[in-house]
Amino acid sequence: MKRVLVMHGPNLNLLGEREPSIYGTMTLSQLNAQIRTEAKRRKITVRFYQSNGEGSLIDCLHKNRKWADGVLINPGAYSHYSYALHDAIVAVAKPAVEVHLSDIMKRETWRRVSVVAPACKASFMGKGVLSYIEGLNWLAEHI
Ligand code: DQA
Repeated sequence: MKRVLVMHGPNLNLLGEREPSIYGTMTLSQLNAQIRTEAKRRKITVRFYQSNGEGSLIDCLHKNRKWADGVLINPGAYSHYSYALHDAIVAVAKPAVEVHLSDIMKRETWRRVSVVAPACKASFMGKGVLSYIEGLNWLAEHI
């Protein structure tokens, strides 16, 4: 079984109540349940992690670097300015895919830049839970 670390960044713990017009009404546990169902179908073992802290996300990547074959990550707002997260993804040297529920390219100017994207092999965005499913399927084909 391939192993994928699924990471959710800041404020994604509030999914379902946070700006539902942008992020939808699905909670984080419901989102994770859908990812788990797709993962089972693709014979992938998943491990979930959410944190509001940049350092905690980096520590999680470090701790799971021997376990994971690939990383599916929604870095939240860290996408737009965390060079530390970029470097951590490069450091662990595992194929990583960046995902976003919303289409960051069609939102505020500051959101249109992802500094994490160059460390990732692919990006999926703007499709809600489907962004994650497409990202997981990309990993299923490439790890
Ligand atoms: C997000 C987009 C980011 O700009 C934002 O800061 C988030 C969520 C998304 O999934 O659409 O927290 O990553």
